[in-house]
Amino acid sequence: MTADQLIELISSRTSASLKRMEAPGPSAEELKAIVEAAAAAPDHGRLHPFRILEIPSDARNALGDLFAQVIQETHEDPTEEALTSAREKAQRGPVLLVMVGCFHGNDETRIPQYEQMLSAGAAMQSMVLVAHALGYASRITSGESARAETFHKGLGLAKNEEFLCFISLGKVADAKPAKGRQEAQEILSTWVPT
Ligand SMILES: Cc1cc2nc3c(=O)[nH]c(=O)nc-3n(C[C@H](O)[C@H](O)[C@H](O)COP(=O)(O)O)c2cc1C
Repeated sequence: MTADQLIELISSRTSASLKRMEAPGPSAEELKAIVEAAAAAPDHGRLHPFRILEIPSDARNALGDLFAQVIQETHEDPTEEALTSAREKAQRGPVLLVMVGCFHGNDETRIPQYEQMLSAGAAMQSMVLVAHALGYASRITSGESARAETFHKGLGLAKNEEFLCFISLGKVADAKPAKGRQEAQEILSTWVPT
């Protein structure tokens, strides 16, 4: 791959609509390459501040029940439609991953948590880029339910762990072009010492 092709690959990544995402998702071998890309993220102090949890297809109903349970706990009188919609969300995307932050506190390390989060963010981006290179669309989502204690427990996360996002991977018939991106000059400036 040339540098130009790599630049094109990075800038052509866009998020797909989960409703339009279809099978197949990445194979086990492709998923390994995607996860290895995460492991190549910069990691100050080699703290391993994230891990990836796969939600297999036979666990989607259980995930849907977990979403519905959170809705029931956080809304006074949820409608059947809201519960059905919560359950349906768990079925979307042929491959569904959860990015889990495993953050170390200042009792363990002098490396601040924001650096550990940046590491997880870099890993997330590497994963979707490798998926894109392999011909898969992706979407990162979180949602209100994901912040609930019930959800944390239901996923089996440890005390020092945090749900960071879902990563859904699959095929889309026609990827939509990127929009709303900043130009380089909007982000880049030059420091002038005072
Ligand atoms: C950690 C994280 C969580 C996100 N959660 C959601 C979400 O719950 N729902 C959503 O529509 N977009 C969510 N997004 C944004 C989309 O994944 C996507 O990045 C955004 O729509 C911009 O589209 P683009 O990636 O094609 O530029 C999230 C992004 C990040 C980084």
